[in-house]
Amino acid sequence: MARIEAEVGKPQGGFMKWIDDRFPFTETMKAHATEYYASKNFNWWYIFGVLATVVLVIQLVTGIFLTMNYKPAAADAFASVEYIMRDVEWGWLIRYMHSTGASFFFIVVYLHMFRAMLYGSYKKPRELIWIIGMMIFFVLMAEGFAGYLLPWGQMSYWGAQVIISLFGAIPGIGEALVEFIRGDYSISDITLNRFFALHVIVLPLALIALVFVHIVALHHVGSNNPDGIEIKEHKGPDGVPLDGVPFHPHHTSKDLVGIIVFLMIFSGVVFFAPEMGGYFLEHANFEPANMTATPEHIAPVWYYTPYYAILRAVPSKLWGFILFAIAVVLPLFLPWLDRCRVRSIRYRGWMYKSALSIFVVTFITLGWLGTQPAEGIYVMGARIFSFLYFMFFLLMPYYTSIDKTKPVPDRVT
Ligand code: HEM
Repeated sequence: MARIEAEVGKPQGGFMKWIDDRFPFTETMKAHATEYYASKNFNWWYIFGVLATVVLVIQLVTGIFLTMNYKPAAADAFASVEYIMRDVEWGWLIRYMHSTGASFFFIVVYLHMFRAMLYGSYKKPRELIWIIGMMIFFVLMAEGFAGYLLPWGQMSYWGAQVIISLFGAIPGIGEALVEFIRGDYSISDITLNRFFALHVIVLPLALIALVFVHIVALHHVGSNNPDGIEIKEHKGPDGVPLDGVPFHPHHTSKDLVGIIVFLMIFSGVVFFAPEMGGYFLEHANFEPANMTATPEHIAPVWYYTPYYAILRAVPSKLWGFILFAIAVVLPLFLPWLDRCRVRSIRYRGWMYKSALSIFVVTFITLGWLGTQPAEGIYVMGARIFSFLYFMFFLLMPYYTSIDKTKPVPDRVT
């Protein structure tokens, strides 16, 4: 009896053992870091997942501090943001970090998605990583949209007015749906309140949960790499992939360099160009919302403008809305639209390479067109480039199946 008591009270192998007996800490670190093998040939395209995580943390932390002084009421919201900017200590920094973070989130996520298109990372067995990623993207779009209403500036109000009223085009249920979203007959204090709830609680929780399952799915199948080769197919006698290196410290140390460079660029924008010429913070949003005066030119923030251009390319409100929705959802089907047996662009033929290059030009041009007034040459441009946008996806099963590919090496290069 005395011996058992002595055993229980005695530390067996130190603090870490105490923890490990109660929580799988070392086991988790091994499985996801020190013994998680990722390909040794990652290039800089592989930094954007980590950077998206960094931006997520920046947004969560600065968001918490903003919430401490922001007032989600139509009568107070605009003034409370001005108060944060002028009177709250470091308030201007917190606010500019958050507004810049929103744009950087999309820059990083768009590049992260593009990487998957370069190296076929959405292909079997990584379809679910991609699908969860697309869900993250949808939630992120909703998060940005809800957040933009909060400063209650002219563009907050009128941007929300334009986008929410689109749902009115849906036959039968349209008008009821619009009222349901607004919670009122027009965009009002009630709308602001519910968008606040969505922006600070519902959508961030959904984002965190989705990012968690995104990484779980990734670590279950293992990361792809720039050669698109399955490193698990070539293991040494110890069961370790021959072309893999432990994620920690090999990739973490390189990621750290990427994070530092990213933070330098991010700081440059926060300190020297937080409005980014009206692209990150639109000029009209420095005026309080006024429901009796429509701004001359309503355009969403740059990250929505490619889709906004598609929306406005068609004269019918309903068709504009349908095409807009299809354009946003289409990439979800990439794992099945892409019939090529080769993953990486390095070993694909000229057809996919050309299609992807045209797609990049198309997406950027649509983004620019979405910031221009919907008239004359701009509408014509939006029609041509919307057509190219859809053709990239819809013709993909065809051109990816006949494209002449190069032989893929056995091991990573
Ligand atoms: C908050 C947003 C996101 C975060 C924090 C995030 C995080 C990550 C991380 C840390 C990785 C591993 C590192 C890397 O491969 O870069 C990764 C991989 C991946 N992500 Fe995301 N991600 C996000 C959004 C998305 C979106 C929107 C998509 C696509 C629609 C996506 C698709 C993928 C794919 C396919 C991989 C595997 C890439 C490969 O192995 O080659 N992710 N993500």
